Amino acid sequence: GAVELGPYRHYMQKEIFEQPRAIADTLEGISAITPDIFGDQAFKIFKQIDSVLILACGTSYYSGLTAKYWIEAIAGVRCDVEIASEYRYRDSVPNPHALVVTISQSGETADTLAALRHAQSQGMQHTLTICNSATSAMVRECALAYITRAGVEVGVASTKAFSTQLAALFLLTLTLAQVKDRLSDKDEAAYLKQMRHLPVAITAVLALEPQIIAWAEAFARKENALFLGRGLHYPIALEGALKLKEISYIHAEAYPAGELKHGPLALVTEEMPVVTVAPNDSMIEKLKSNMQEVRARGGELYVFADGDSRITSGEGLHVIRLPEHYGALSPILHVVPLQLLAYHTALARGTDVDKPRNLAKSVTVE
Ligand code: G6P
Repeated sequence: GAVELGPYRHYMQKEIFEQPRAIADTLEGISAITPDIFGDQAFKIFKQIDSVLILACGTSYYSGLTAKYWIEAIAGVRCDVEIASEYRYRDSVPNPHALVVTISQSGETADTLAALRHAQSQGMQHTLTICNSATSAMVRECALAYITRAGVEVGVASTKAFSTQLAALFLLTLTLAQVKDRLSDKDEAAYLKQMRHLPVAITAVLALEPQIIAWAEAFARKENALFLGRGLHYPIALEGALKLKEISYIHAEAYPAGELKHGPLALVTEEMPVVTVAPNDSMIEKLKSNMQEVRARGGELYVFADGDSRITSGEGLHVIRLPEHYGALSPILHVVPLQLLAYHTALARGTDVDKPRNLAKSVTVE
């Protein structure tokens, strides 16, 4: 039946606020890391694979890019991520020992399905999908599956599907780490504890909405925006820019902050808001010098920092603080204010938030 809007103005807003519940449901029943959560054959398959190849489109592609940082750093397994519409037509070098991972909210995206079938036709039989629809073609055609429990997502701009994909991909990372003997019992317990705490941590981030609404007023008057991030949060910057362009029609692009000097710095003027995803991680000092490069050209910085980072507001520098730094799982928190920023900017511009022009929820034809 129809999904009720309740107190929300749009499905997108409702779905952003459902994320604590969606993540809790996605992680329900996981009390220990074991390959079985991905299917009966998972242990056997994970033992044989030497690398991961992620195939996806759109927002799902960005969750895959985030997972690459986790899988290589924590599991020590090589990971490539490809846009499905490119991979399916590219002459690539097949690796029968790779684990092919498709990521899809709908499980019906034509390009992602075709990319999966292309990999299979090249002799790659170890397949896994992270999918929000248990009855989809993707689940039927992959050997292994993890079903996210975001629930029905109505808004064309994906939100809760993305954060639940990240939660599932983090579970995959820990499982691969365990199979490769890289996960100590102590680390397993600590990561699981942090994962269980995610719904509470996201709820605290959602409480920042009033501050983000104030920023959205300024964004609504712009026609361009730049998003910066580094490391694990570069894909989060990409996702933030995608959300803004999809629903507010503001031209937005994301760059890994270290690349600023190789082009986008030429775009920076007082007219250019620069959103910076700045968690208090190992890249923070590098990121701060990138922020100075922007300030020196008059660019206006909008920074999402953590409570424990030493970045203070000043002229041309606006700061919203998330609670304390959340370590490896920080991307799951830092995407939330970017979703809210896109939502409230679109609201201020009066666009059709849940049904942006020219876009479809699920692209089942090429
Ligand atoms: C469309 C949707 C996006 C989604 C993408 C991939 O472009 O508008 O929100 O990220 O398809 O969809 P999938 O269902 O495969 O995740």
